[in-house]
Amino acid sequence: MKKNTNKILKGDVLEVLKKLPSNFIDVGVTSPPYNKQENKKGWLVKNVKYDIASDKKSELEYQKEQIAVLNEIYRITKNGGHFFYNHKTRWERGTMIHPIEWLLKTNWVIRQEIIWDRGIAANIRGWRFWQTDERIYWLYKPSIKDNKIGEELLSKHALLTSVWKIRPENKNPHPAPFPLVLPARCIYSVLNEKRGVVLDPYCGSGTTLVAAKLLGHDYLGIDISEEYISMSNERIKNSMKEKIILDIETSNHKVIKTFKQRKEEGGFTGKFRNKKNGLLDAQDTFPISLFDKSLL
Ligand SMILES: C[S@@+](CC[C@H](N)C(=O)[O-])C[C@H]1O[C@@H](n2cnc3c(N)ncnc32)[C@H](O)[C@@H]1O
Repeated sequence: MKKNTNKILKGDVLEVLKKLPSNFIDVGVTSPPYNKQENKKGWLVKNVKYDIASDKKSELEYQKEQIAVLNEIYRITKNGGHFFYNHKTRWERGTMIHPIEWLLKTNWVIRQEIIWDRGIAANIRGWRFWQTDERIYWLYKPSIKDNKIGEELLSKHALLTSVWKIRPENKNPHPAPFPLVLPARCIYSVLNEKRGVVLDPYCGSGTTLVAAKLLGHDYLGIDISEEYISMSNERIKNSMKEKIILDIETSNHKVIKTFKQRKEEGGFTGKFRNKKNGLLDAQDTFPISLFDKSLL
């Protein structure tokens, strides 16, 4: 499938996806436009305005489009493949809009809802507690029909837990980039040392593609903006400059103590109560070095 890899295709995501063959992507990671109507700026952030694409649609039209895009991605993903979809909960005149509303209408199996704890709020008004979280939906295309469970992650990846404390990116000129650690964690966890093809259908400044390249994979990006595609290509060309971030992330995927060692030392063995320590709380259950140190 070399013809469709290691490049960025320019155009409307749905039109481009429809022209691609079936079953060739191993894993995808993306953050689509959130349909924030372009007027929703917070006190602490600029409003997101993309170069070409409008982020101002009726919610119905937006959700219909996201379902169509996700189903096309499902078609081009291999059986047993994965897709990580970053989104967030939003409110329209006080009514909550949750991504699960349209995710349940797609062909994907929803494997997990991961909380991305950004540690910082965009809007600090008091209508609600300050929203410091976004979500990452881990979606799965079963390898065998009706087997929704799939393969287990290696312990060194699963130990990273379902709450990811990762600071937002603030050095990137793109209006809404995610940090390199985010796609790196998704890709490395499901592919481990296996080589594959990585997709980002709304690739923006190319963060997912840089992570894929540095981890030794082939990649495919799509974006509607010529300006962002140039930004991505430049970043991919200079990807070694960002390798240190990748190396720190992959070094955090590790098992510090085996089950036997933890048992001998009275550490966490799956029971929350043990003779030596009494009741364990969450911090005792995982080695602290597995958490992102920047937030400690
Ligand atoms: C949230 S940004 C992605 C940022 C990316 N994760 C990064 O780290 O730079 C969404 C991207 O989708 C692109 N986009 C919006 N609508 C599109 C469409 N219909 N077709 C293709 N790309 C689109 C925008 O140009 C923007 O770069």
